[in-house]
Amino acid sequence: MSNLLHVCIYNTEPEAANELRTQISALNFVRVVADVNSPETLAAALDESGINLCFFHLDPDPDEVVPVIDQVSTRHPEVALIAISHQSDPQAILAPIRAGCDQFVCEPIDPEDLANAVARVASRRLASNTRSRCICIVGPSGGSGTTSIACNLALEIGNLVDRECALVDLDLQFGDVASNFDAEPRYNISDLAEASGQIDRTLLMSTLMSLPCKVAILSRPEMIEQEAAVTPDVIHHVVDLLKTIYENVVIDLPGHFDQRTIATLAQADLVIVICQLLVPSLRNAKRYHDALQRMGVPDDRIEFVINRSEGRSGRLTVKDLEEMTKKPVFACIPNDYQFVARSIDFGRPIAALDRNSPVRTAIREMASKIVSHPPDVEKASGGRRSFLSRILSK
Ligand SMILES: Nc1ncnc2c1ncn2[C@@H]1O[C@H](COP(=O)(O)OP(=O)(O)O)[C@@H](O)[C@H]1O
Ligand SMILES: [Mg+2]
Repeated sequence: MSNLLHVCIYNTEPEAANELRTQISALNFVRVVADVNSPETLAAALDESGINLCFFHLDPDPDEVVPVIDQVSTRHPEVALIAISHQSDPQAILAPIRAGCDQFVCEPIDPEDLANAVARVASRRLASNTRSRCICIVGPSGGSGTTSIACNLALEIGNLVDRECALVDLDLQFGDVASNFDAEPRYNISDLAEASGQIDRTLLMSTLMSLPCKVAILSRPEMIEQEAAVTPDVIHHVVDLLKTIYENVVIDLPGHFDQRTIATLAQADLVIVICQLLVPSLRNAKRYHDALQRMGVPDDRIEFVINRSEGRSGRLTVKDLEEMTKKPVFACIPNDYQFVARSIDFGRPIAALDRNSPVRTAIREMASKIVSHPPDVEKASGGRRSFLSRILSK
């Protein structure tokens, strides 16, 4: 989690706007990222701006503001809420607190009182609730279905949690994430590489392309040769920052190992290895698994998925993979070449073509398995740090 609190101010009293903004902006560790005056603009800001603290100015009409607080506290339990008002009778304080506010600050605002309220919500609520998940999808053998699964998984995750899921295409030369959504992003990861030292949240968010299906894409460079500028440092910084903005970050990762892959894997909370029931595919899956283990990625952060799991008459079975990896497979995605090829060719996600397709059902189940397990922040960051420091100290 970033140390900076990203703040939204909800205020319907125009005369109070400047004063509120000035006082809140003056706080340490706070950045005001949205100033809104209607439930609609507030909902959009909460969906898009990675806000972790929202101030509600109750004046002039608390009866209109309290139901908005109620909605936000139900829909965004991870966002801390502070009410501000001139009225300080018990009823005026109780109503917003019952609706879900963590703190109440009286006007005229005493800066110390405001700072204390923010410090209390920051330590109590945000530290335990702001979590993010970085999921790397990797296919050690080409053509395993990695990109199709990464794209459709991001969509299902975004829809399940009702929040945009970031999707990063790290197949820097020939990635086709954007094409899978028939999207033509204006900016891509090479724009970030050019800005290198100055990548911040605003630049990053303007580089991602938000799609209506709750996926925000960070696309590969436009020209093949631009990939060279995307260094491991850039990738590390970008993924790190994405994790402070998006609850879920899915990465389509190329199957080979290099410093860039390693910089990415170091940030992963979950590595999903995609394979098919074919001898070369399982052999490469095993070699990949071994490499991950040698690098120190904890085994409980590695899962295996079988793609095109049925309708083939090869000699390998799910059990073979399970015996090899010594863990149950995470998911089996059925084989439906024509359908998946159509989805790729038309740039339409599987759910948009056929909500009831067995391929879609299997990917959605994968998504719900992932989102039903909150990442273990303590363990993840501890492990990640030692893993990273080992890699970066080379
Ligand atoms: N579940 C599936 N059933 C049938 N064909 C699939 C399935 N998933 C992917 N494919 C096909 O496999 C090919 C490679 O898919 P892609 O997602 O681009 O893999 P990768 O990113 O691993 O190279 C595509 O032609 C796609 O249609
Ligand atoms: Mg691919």
